Amino acid sequence: MSLPLPRPLFAEPVPSLRWGVIGTNWIAAAFVRAVTRRTDQRVVAVAARDAERTAAFAATHGIPRVHAQPQDLIEDPAVDVVHIATPHSAHAALALAAIAAGKHVLVEKPLAASARDAREVADAARAAGVLVMEAMWTRYLPQADVLRQLLAAGTLGDVHQVDADFGFATPYDPAHRLWNPDLAGGALLDVGVYPISFASSVLGTPVRVQASGQRLANGVDLRASALLTSAGGAVAMVATSIVSELPNRALVVGSHGRLELRRPFYAPTETVLTTRAGGRAVTAGWTDDTFHDPYDALSYEAVALAGYAGQGRVESPLHPLDEVVSVLTTIEQVSAQLGVVPPPE
Ligand SMILES: NC(=O)c1ccc[n+]([C@@H]2O[C@H](COP(=O)([O-])OP(=O)(O)OC[C@H]3O[C@@H](n4cnc5c(N)ncnc54)[C@H](OP(=O)(O)O)[C@@H]3O)[C@@H](O)[C@H]2O)c1
Repeated sequence: MSLPLPRPLFAEPVPSLRWGVIGTNWIAAAFVRAVTRRTDQRVVAVAARDAERTAAFAATHGIPRVHAQPQDLIEDPAVDVVHIATPHSAHAALALAAIAAGKHVLVEKPLAASARDAREVADAARAAGVLVMEAMWTRYLPQADVLRQLLAAGTLGDVHQVDADFGFATPYDPAHRLWNPDLAGGALLDVGVYPISFASSVLGTPVRVQASGQRLANGVDLRASALLTSAGGAVAMVATSIVSELPNRALVVGSHGRLELRRPFYAPTETVLTTRAGGRAVTAGWTDDTFHDPYDALSYEAVALAGYAGQGRVESPLHPLDEVVSVLTTIEQVSAQLGVVPPPE
């Protein structure tokens, strides 16, 4: 037994788009490195509010155009597509501005800080006829295509259960965006979106959401575990945390077998299929070690956006905007069920 080979996203070369990046912190740097090293996409502009840091970022990454304001980058005719790499709280407003300027947009996860704002972005994108994608990079990884093929072929049988989690322990720091309600802090929006989006990719929108966990009185959630039940009775068990180290793995379990995406499931990893044959467990594995730096795999989402834009699409067929809104709705349903606790010591 062997796993299906991941299929390339596109058979033909994709257009080489001119990207403008808003934000100069961790993900902006990782994204620019990935697309520069691994694709024909061109990062031509950068903007953030701190002029010194923005100029330094441009110099480090060889970016020719530096804008003092995000709006200047959005209006720059030399930019085809805007990558929004700011705190969650700024995503929707910047996406709406980019859409209004007729630009394609790749918005870091989560697309917006609320389902309502995400719906507004989706509606605006469709009305303007531009392509907007949430940068849920896991959807575009080769291992996601292996899973899609196994599900389409029925190799796992009837899917009964999905388990997925993403969590880490970080010290309480009210100044950091993770702990700051004004910047849409908390575990759910930052990393809980990964397991909930993964569960959605397998089971769709849940019909029942039962959750436990803790949040602060200011709304910042610390940890959450949830049982998401789908219309057919399959369940997803998802968890997230910013106060504990979770296993960070994902499992899809069906009547004929199970697929495990080993830690860390949200990046290129080892994929293991276990089925039964002749009364014995049989396993087949595949490890994605394409890149020395796993974050070079951020390049897949950039290629996906360029390819879909070239095809004239206005949303990702692998991650439609209605699903992005549905995941944020699930996050809000989980959040509403958490118990309020005082801040950590
Ligand atoms: N895909 C992934 O694996 C991954 C990993 C990490 C983070 N992320 C996502 O990426 C986003 C950014 O996270 P991060 O940790 O890299 O950075 P961050 O700490 O959120 O920093 C935000 C950056 O955006 C700029 N910024 C802040 N507020 C802004 C605003 N209102 N308008 C314009 N620019 C603003 C900041 O520079 P100035 O202060 O100079 O404006 C800074 O460079 C988050 O949404 C996060 O969820 C994704």
